[in-house]
Amino acid sequence: MKIRAAGNPDRAVDIPRLVRTEFGRFSVREDKTLESRIEEKDLWEKVRAEFLLDPGQVFFNTGTLGAMPRRVFDRVVSHLRLTAERIAEWDYYGPDWISGYQPWTEIREKIARLLNCEVKEIALTENATAGMNYLSNGLDLKPGDEVLGTDQEHPGGESGWKLKAARCGVIYRQLPLGKPINWPQEVIETFVRAMGPRTRVLAVPHMITGSGAILPIKELCAECRKRGIITVIDGAQTVGQIKVDLEDLGCDAYYGSFHKWLCAPAGNGFLYLRQDRAPEVWTTLASTQWDNREDHGFRLSQRGTGNLSLLFGLDEALDFHFELGPERVYARIKDLGDYLRARLREISRIKILTPLHPEMAAGITVYSLEGLPANYIQDELWKRGRLRPRALGDGSGVRQSTHIYNSFAEIDRTVDILKDLAGK
Ligand SMILES: Cc1ncc(COP(=O)(O)O)c(C=O)c1O
Repeated sequence: MKIRAAGNPDRAVDIPRLVRTEFGRFSVREDKTLESRIEEKDLWEKVRAEFLLDPGQVFFNTGTLGAMPRRVFDRVVSHLRLTAERIAEWDYYGPDWISGYQPWTEIREKIARLLNCEVKEIALTENATAGMNYLSNGLDLKPGDEVLGTDQEHPGGESGWKLKAARCGVIYRQLPLGKPINWPQEVIETFVRAMGPRTRVLAVPHMITGSGAILPIKELCAECRKRGIITVIDGAQTVGQIKVDLEDLGCDAYYGSFHKWLCAPAGNGFLYLRQDRAPEVWTTLASTQWDNREDHGFRLSQRGTGNLSLLFGLDEALDFHFELGPERVYARIKDLGDYLRARLREISRIKILTPLHPEMAAGITVYSLEGLPANYIQDELWKRGRLRPRALGDGSGVRQSTHIYNSFAEIDRTVDILKDLAGK
């Protein structure tokens, strides 16, 4: 099926075709046999059973915090219990019983494998917000230097730059993007037009929190590289949801959270700094390794005593993700997101704020229903169906995140209620 991209009348955009499957519902993929569909349905039901989520409740708010698999929860709790019961056995000859002082290379190696980079390019942080602050605070910028961002940032992607502007006279410009964005090229053109001799940093999200739009990061980084502009990418919403290949993206820095789409316990994030850029970033939290020039990731992981049980929870979440198969996870998330967007288009009073361009959306869908406040929709979905998406803070829409613990049937239930609310 082709649709016209608004603002680009010459270009038609492919969107996934809707077909009726043997299960009697719509699917977005035509390339699967009945056998593989049954196997897949079976697999995802088993995966759902791996999560502790109450079976009577449907969770559509991974964009805020992911649900934890049972084995992640168990690993955290058993280590926490061990610490509580046997801390007297810690003799300092073996590994620490806390995080914060050791490099935890094995865990960083898994992260580096997931993101396709070197282990020493990865720092462990508490969350994406910490990553942003380590960069905005750690880069030496002069008054008049310019940082470019978007007008659709999460506070955890913009506040560090606002602080830098207030404190150091840096100019932070937030360029307006559409909602929805229709075409990657419009984003590239907006930024390239704005880049000038004073532009030192491009700081943008890989995926926008309030629309789920995936920005053309690879192309933006290539434009920045030509001009010597440092690229800092906010990946809070991407890791575990879509493929993140840092070598391919070509950015200088990338930070994110593992407690959303990777389903790790809250308090786990990372900062990636490309080897040749790392010396330019001062550490914000200094402790024993603050000047380690051999392992910049370790240098930027300094934060004093931390909760090792939570870090082991991250380790378990990484193993779970690898065992499921990252590509299979991303494909499932994309299928569910495409299906939701396709079904929402059956309701004329619904406006979809997520791009319909197939490369610009995955598991986050944001929509509004004409005449009804987002909070009302959120509450009705819970009251009528125990379905939990999230009304966005600015009231601009409902954000529905579809993850591997969700199903096509749950999306159908959402759409039935929305049709009822729309009076269809
Ligand atoms: C795009 C984006 N950046 C940053 C953040 C902040 O993440 P955290 O609270 O894990 O630091 C979020 C959280 O939703 C986000 O969506």
